[in-house]
Amino acid sequence: MSVLYRADPERGRVWARIFAERAPDLTFHIWPETGAPAEVRYLIAWAPSAELLSSLPNLQVLFSTGAGVDHIDLSRVPAGVPVVRMVEPNVVDGMVEYATLSVLALHRNLLDYARTQTAGLWRPLEVLPASARRVGVLGLGVLGRAVLDRLRPFGFQLNGWSRSAKEIPGVTCYAGQRALEGFLSNCDILICLLPLTQETRGILDTHTLAMLPRGAALINVGRGTHLHQPALLEALDAGHLSAAILDVCDPEPLPQHHPLWVHPRVLLTPHIASVTQPGTAAPIVLENIRRHQRGEPLHDVIDRNRGY
Ligand code: NDP
Ligand code: OXD
Repeated sequence: MSVLYRADPERGRVWARIFAERAPDLTFHIWPETGAPAEVRYLIAWAPSAELLSSLPNLQVLFSTGAGVDHIDLSRVPAGVPVVRMVEPNVVDGMVEYATLSVLALHRNLLDYARTQTAGLWRPLEVLPASARRVGVLGLGVLGRAVLDRLRPFGFQLNGWSRSAKEIPGVTCYAGQRALEGFLSNCDILICLLPLTQETRGILDTHTLAMLPRGAALINVGRGTHLHQPALLEALDAGHLSAAILDVCDPEPLPQHHPLWVHPRVLLTPHIASVTQPGTAAPIVLENIRRHQRGEPLHDVIDRNRGY
């Protein structure tokens, strides 16, 4: 019985060491070395190809190395094979750090000061208390809720939007498509932490960006294709939006001459908001494998119909 890892090979070596120490009964392969394909019961991968999936006749569980699963073509995963997404403490903490850093940077006008410093200008801007700033999170899942929990002590006015109704202390929660406009109209700083699905692709377009209050700022840490980038550029250039911090874009990386690279009101990072850490992820995946072997329900299985 074996486990096949098909993602970054350097990280794979850390996974292999942890499995060797804690699960000597499971043979751990790092792709392209696969051992006998019929022996592979568990696949740990970011974006397994259709070819790889069809070469594993006895696959029992597919583990995504990411919290999102949009990079997996679910139609190629046999119907009986559960797909488990990555929920591990460092993915959550990394996202909380990045989102908090970005909200505070926008709240305290750091993008403006980076520009005025370059121009040699000493130009104080109005300092607003956090209680005067409305921060909204699209997506109230594991990551969205963790971000809101960490923002709460600063005193921001907090809002959140999800598919199903939620009650979160200190957060005004909105649910469903019909509540989207009410939610967006109350966000001075909007954080996108949605999974990418057929329903959420392109959700931030000309129409929805116009629902944000004038001067609002956007943080996109979901997926690049949640955002219609030309609509963002138009909204920034028209002054409707004041700034954007983008950890994800479409495509990744952006082409060399893409206007987002040099836009004065945009800060880009290369999809690093949070990164799965093998040291904490491997023990969690191993525990899920043990659950599967004992016939117990797995944690963090996605719902294929919803796509997340
Ligand atoms: P979860 O699955 O825990 O939560 C998803 C949330 O989105 C849920 O609250 C869900 O609503 C809501 N949602 C989904 N579809 C809709 C919809 N159509 N309308 C309204 N709400 C919707 O995901 P996570 O919080 O763990 O992760 C979110 C995403 O963050 C990942 O899918 C990935 O794309 C991204 N990510 C980015 C990283 C980066 O480095 N940039 C790192 C890690 C993740 P409900 O609760 O009602 O189901
Ligand atoms: C993820 C990511 O989904 O890194 O985990 O984007």
